[in-house]
Amino acid sequence: MPIRLLPDNLVNQIAAGEVVERPASVVKELVENALDAGATRVAVEIERGGAALIRVRDDGTGMPAEELSLALERHATSKIATLDDLAAVQSLGFRGEALPSIASVSRFRLVSAPSGGEAAEIEVADGRRAAPRPAAHPRGTTVEVRDLFYSVPARRKFLRSESTEYQHIQRTLTRLALSRFDAGFTLTHNRREVFSLPAAADRAAREERVARLLGPEFMRHAVHLEHESGGLRLSGWLGLPTYARAQPDQQYLFVNRRMVRDRLLGNAVRLGYQDVLYGGRHAAYVLYIELDPASVDVNAHPQKLELRFRDGRHLHDFVFRSVERALAATRPDPLRSGSTDLSRLLGADAGRAGPGLPLGQPPAVAGGGDWTVLARVAGAVADDAGRDDGGAAPPLGYALAQIHGIFILAQTGDGIVLVDMHAAHERVLYERLKTALESGAGERQALLVPAVVEVSEEEAGVAEHHADELAAAGLVVDRLGPGRLAIREVPAALATDDVGGLLREALSDLAEHGASHRIVERQNELLASLACRAAVRAHRSMTLPEMNALLREMERTDRSDQCNHGRPTWTRVSLDELDRLFLRGR
Ligand SMILES: Nc1ncnc2c1ncn2[C@@H]1O[C@H](COP(=O)(O)OP(=O)(O)OP(=O)(O)O)[C@@H](O)[C@H]1O
Ligand SMILES: [Mg+2]
Repeated sequence: MPIRLLPDNLVNQIAAGEVVERPASVVKELVENALDAGATRVAVEIERGGAALIRVRDDGTGMPAEELSLALERHATSKIATLDDLAAVQSLGFRGEALPSIASVSRFRLVSAPSGGEAAEIEVADGRRAAPRPAAHPRGTTVEVRDLFYSVPARRKFLRSESTEYQHIQRTLTRLALSRFDAGFTLTHNRREVFSLPAAADRAAREERVARLLGPEFMRHAVHLEHESGGLRLSGWLGLPTYARAQPDQQYLFVNRRMVRDRLLGNAVRLGYQDVLYGGRHAAYVLYIELDPASVDVNAHPQKLELRFRDGRHLHDFVFRSVERALAATRPDPLRSGSTDLSRLLGADAGRAGPGLPLGQPPAVAGGGDWTVLARVAGAVADDAGRDDGGAAPPLGYALAQIHGIFILAQTGDGIVLVDMHAAHERVLYERLKTALESGAGERQALLVPAVVEVSEEEAGVAEHHADELAAAGLVVDRLGPGRLAIREVPAALATDDVGGLLREALSDLAEHGASHRIVERQNELLASLACRAAVRAHRSMTLPEMNALLREMERTDRSDQCNHGRPTWTRVSLDELDRLFLRGR
């Protein structure tokens, strides 16, 4: 076949292959256009999962009649004019591809009215564009997409069931609605209104929207976070570890108000949770990152879902540390109902962490620890506070008894508290061990015989390049040849571990993210298992002063709301709840 130029309509249909994966992608493009046009209200109507109709209506700036045809031309955009504009682009769109692509694979209608101008409409079907004609429409724009992929049977075949496609649309609109609190959103499916969200001006209204979209339970078990440093800003809500889920289905990340699916950032958040999450569970979060638009390349993915960062490593660390710090602050708080909550135990949704999880195996160490000794080893000051020290009762109150050898029952200012003593003690010890390790940071141990590790040339290069950092984390490594490394010193706490494996993992982290948390992670795993072994075990009887010492330690300890496996460590029942339980005062 000789070389030829493809006809325009075919070019658009090919472009649609990348931009329009399924009905939800059409919704994304159209709603993004509405937001770029400054809409304060966006209404999305769907029929039959989007296969029959997708209609998006906005009250944005609209377009004059003479621009309607241009909007349907490939590479026609009002959003950028030069390469410099692209480099600092703030609008969601910039390629001028969405409308022509969508119009080439559907029966398409665009109606628009600019402020103070006449409304006009234009239709496209079977690759033919009709001339614009006058229409009736208030200021703003409506785009109708009917019979998506009708002209491309091969694509139509790939559409899933109505309910699956509809779910994708709902998920997409949820993301868009989380990305822009300044606009109101409505969604209608088969003429039934699914949600109608007013614009949310303040934090309370935003939290209401988040609760509406993710469920009220998320908001009830979330901490708000806001952190800014060196031109980077992270804000949003972190689901508490005890609200972790079996699926990663509530992880929302936005960069400069753009919804993204970014591995680097997702990994940074995951690391921030690693110390408090039960294995295999997924955190829930809604997080917003803002940074200089010039330091992000948004033109890196056909649906703009992935980004490239100029300083990805710095950003990764910023996100990781901010999340970690926000979660570390989850210690017993007199205002919350505990790290787990009784109402959830009774009617709880089985998809989340809770007491239904298998308990960790009791550590198989003979002899059993002595709590008093352990408390001293761990540096605890058993400030054996009595009730008569004048001050208000501390958040976890004072111990009354040990129950079934497992729980501590304590009385607080306005109710009772139950503590899982092993889980709580384990966390207290773990945090102490980590602090001790950090303060003696960089403590290394020389290997009598250096461990030689075979790696790829690329990995060896990475090791050489990051030698200082590895050394700071405790790994002293030399390059022996193109693909051979010698490990001379290792972190003291890991002296007997599989150092070759650790080095390989650290190198692959370094190669991928430019930073490795693997060493710290491994060290933490080791400390966690030490803590678990050392923690006071079930059925060892404790005296009241010992129990009180543990309660005071918990109040001082970071992350003491969860044990090292992410299980909750305590719960509270207030006097009010006790009264209700016994129908008192009715
Ligand atoms: N809802 C709308 N309100 C006002 N103008 C719109 C609307 N939708 C599209 N336009 C105009 O039509 C142009 C083309 O839209 P289109 O979505 O095809 O491209 P884009 O948004 O510029 O870039 P991208 O392909 O990255 O989305 C836009 O640049 C904008 O000027
Ligand atoms: Mg667009």
